[in-house]
Amino acid sequence: MRSMLVPGKATCILGAQFGDEGKGKFVDLLAQDADLVCRVQGGNNAGHTIWVSGRKVVTHLLPSGVLHPQCEVAIGAGVVVDPLVLRDEILRLKEQGFDLAPERVHIDFRATAILPAHKAQDLKREFERSQSGTAIGTTGRGIGPAYASRAHRDAPRLGECISPGYLEHFAQSGHPLAEGLTPETLAETMEACQFLRPYLKDVAMLVHNRLNDGARVMIEGAQGGLLDVAYGTYPYVTSSNLVAGSCPGGIGMPPTKVANIIGVTKAYATRVGHGPFPGELTGALEEGIRERGHEFGSTTGRSRRIGWLDLVALRYMACVNGYQSLALMKSDVLSGLTDIGLVTAYKDKRTGELMNGWPMTAVAWENIEPVIEFAQGWQQVVDSKNNLDPVCEQFVQRIENWIGVPVSYVSTGAERLEGVWRNVR
Ligand code: GDP
Ligand code: IMO
Ligand code: MG
Repeated sequence: MRSMLVPGKATCILGAQFGDEGKGKFVDLLAQDADLVCRVQGGNNAGHTIWVSGRKVVTHLLPSGVLHPQCEVAIGAGVVVDPLVLRDEILRLKEQGFDLAPERVHIDFRATAILPAHKAQDLKREFERSQSGTAIGTTGRGIGPAYASRAHRDAPRLGECISPGYLEHFAQSGHPLAEGLTPETLAETMEACQFLRPYLKDVAMLVHNRLNDGARVMIEGAQGGLLDVAYGTYPYVTSSNLVAGSCPGGIGMPPTKVANIIGVTKAYATRVGHGPFPGELTGALEEGIRERGHEFGSTTGRSRRIGWLDLVALRYMACVNGYQSLALMKSDVLSGLTDIGLVTAYKDKRTGELMNGWPMTAVAWENIEPVIEFAQGWQQVVDSKNNLDPVCEQFVQRIENWIGVPVSYVSTGAERLEGVWRNVR
């Protein structure tokens, strides 16, 4: 697996579904051989849970490489950062015993700051949408409004926020984003920004230097390709680009430095929030998988919707992202099922006809009916020698044949060491 990380190059680990695929676990596993792990987009809408020897670690903004002392971590200019959340996360992980020295944690000056007004706007818009039945089900963390004000060139960046007097002046300026900066929230925002000051750097140049020195770099995706603002199930998506092509830009890395792109998918599917979900399950099957897989959000605690693995979507994501291999997570959760569904085609439910292309409008998504084929289930995903059950192996091969991408890793439990490598040295 060390061979997946190339000296002087970057490996992207990207969610291939609707987020929560298990990126955190997989990044943590690979990061034992990495020198630097970077977040490039999103914000604290992400929640990545890692289990090591019965101990649970959750990250929202810090890359999951943070558990490995030899590994530096970086947050790029493409990320939207709530200064209070990042400060608290650094303090929390410090308390858990991890080294969070500014020599090891790098945050780009140019990351956009999430302000109280962004969070208020997020909640207000969601409320308004809910009145017309079009709520997205956002995490309420201010992500969309922060990206919108970056596009408007309104939002302050962390670099500005730490300049002496900047935030006080901003709060008095009558700027629409100053709303919500009460004396109390202004004081706590200023305090959090000052806490972050020693961590702020030109991360693009730092990454450039590390790559030149032969560092093994990883990019840790947040969310998943089906939530990409352009290529996902718009408008039920997040507000950043998540596809592989956009990732190096989020940290200021030339795309030519990316050596390896790995898609992370569950053996089934989950989705938090509203929007299309071909293959969605209901009833006892849904509840059983949710309970066995502990499918409750790491960020908001919401129940995740459950469905069968959607091969149509995965194949499209493989095309758009160029996955060179896949990590198949949570195969253990399906153990004991007699039949396991796979979405193999989309039909137009108005005409019953098979659809050829990928749905590109909200109306097209509304009219999707999935075609589901069933694969044989397995009892125990691995034997006592950690060999994959032959029936599970057949399931994995069926996915590989369908997608045309090798599955390099099958995760068989939440713990760091529960998994089986395939096709890799
Ligand atoms: P991320 O956002 O993609 O990092 O995923 P999350 O951490 O939000 O959600 C994945 C959940 O599944 C976490 O609670 C992980 O501990 C857990 N997990 C990851 N891989 C496996 C696995 O193979 N089996 C089981 N049972 N749990 C897993
Ligand atoms: P990780 O990194 C799952 C979903 C929200 C909502 C939509 C828009 O843990 O995989 P936003 O707050 O981003 O404007 O919400 O996107 N969403 C996620 N779902 N995992 C995530 O991150 C998510 N980040 C956002 O539930 O449907
Ligand atoms: Mg998550």
